[in-house]
Amino acid sequence: MNFLVTGGAGFIGSAVCRHLCANPAYRVTNLDKLTYAGNLASLRPIENAHNYRFEQADICDERAVLEILRRDDIDIVMNLAAESHVDRSIDGPGTFIETNIVGTYRILNAALDYWRGLPAERKSGFRFHHVSTDEVFGDLPFDGGMFVEETPYAPSSPYSASKAASDHLVRAWHETYGLPVVLSNCSNNYGPYHFPEKLIPLVILNALDEKPLPVYGAGANVRDWLFVEDHACALELVATKGRPGESYNVGGNSERTNLGVVEAICDLLDARRPRAGGTSYRGLITFVTDRPGHDRRYAIDASKIARDLGWAPRENFDSGLARTVDWYLDNKWWWGPIREQRYNGERLGQGPIENSPTQNSPVGNSLIENRTDESSKVAT
Ligand code: NAD
Ligand code: TYD
Repeated sequence: MNFLVTGGAGFIGSAVCRHLCANPAYRVTNLDKLTYAGNLASLRPIENAHNYRFEQADICDERAVLEILRRDDIDIVMNLAAESHVDRSIDGPGTFIETNIVGTYRILNAALDYWRGLPAERKSGFRFHHVSTDEVFGDLPFDGGMFVEETPYAPSSPYSASKAASDHLVRAWHETYGLPVVLSNCSNNYGPYHFPEKLIPLVILNALDEKPLPVYGAGANVRDWLFVEDHACALELVATKGRPGESYNVGGNSERTNLGVVEAICDLLDARRPRAGGTSYRGLITFVTDRPGHDRRYAIDASKIARDLGWAPRENFDSGLARTVDWYLDNKWWWGPIREQRYNGERLGQGPIENSPTQNSPVGNSLIENRTDESSKVAT
């Protein structure tokens, strides 16, 4: 079976490539533009595998995608390529619109063209799997409720709005043109090879650098944490066994407040890499201005994927977080160059919208002209 994984040099995509390549019956093509978030070092464990190949390309380039689909006889597309960081979407939404919405439109067109030309027996087996987020559902109150597949979409950030738009396009290509699609919406992933702009790796690396550990607002916002390798297993199941036209929620059943997460990381580091002077890393925790539009709580009801596809996470939050902290302690070769050359942990996402190359495009310009001031949703 031949897979095309887009965004395979990113955090989740690289976990998917590493996971799929362990099966000798699979062949995996990784298509990635290599943005600031793409990193071929994350593919080091499989870079010489006989069933793996890398192709640098943009999902917005319909012709290039179509050529790769044909050349590699693809059976399953797993579309993970995206701009993924909420804070960056606040500073510069243009690239989110271009990759997450326009890019999804273009790769859908390429997939449809390719699928229509397949012989009947391969046509029925083809799948376009779109990987999305629980953030499309908006947020939940602190005191209850969970996202199910039928929860109405109510995105809050430019990132989640762009992902919601892409999900709608994927469904439309199924309903209108018959493209066999499956979707999945997952909660916050964490684990090895996570770009250190996101909460967990940022806090681990800032702590090791003796820098402040920034907690937005009062740290009361809640996320449902999913270990990335559990997610990769879920994605294989959705792509190979999911029913066309359906979506599946994937979550780790591990709700934690942000402050609880940061304190847990401090406690693990205190035991593994004690600070000089013997005080706790908790002393570095710093409460900072909240994120505009900050969703209060996410929680996933993953009973459909458990029931229909037999998926269950292997890690609980304590075991997964310990594995993650140990991985960062052991793998400075991976994160050292990122911190030195790409992103050193400075605060993102406070607006106003920054100049970026995409702001010269029609999409970027219209967003700038029409923007209004944003304010935080929660008083924390
Ligand atoms: P990431 O930012 O780590 O990686 C994204 C990858 O996509 C990078 O390798 C980047 O180079 C590539 N890319 C970006 N634009 C591209 C383009 N135009 N063409 C080709 N490649 C391009 O993201 P991630 O955390 O691995 O997320 C993967 C997917 O999962 C995304 O679609 C994201 O929305 C979704 N998701 C992520 C999380 C999470 O917690 N990380 C949660 C829910 C859903
Ligand atoms: P993040 O890792 O950016 O993921 P997402 O916004 O997709 O949930 O943030 C996770 C939570 O941590 C979110 O509620 C924002 C918060 N946060 C901080 O408190 N401090 C930080 O420095 C960052 C990056 C995030």
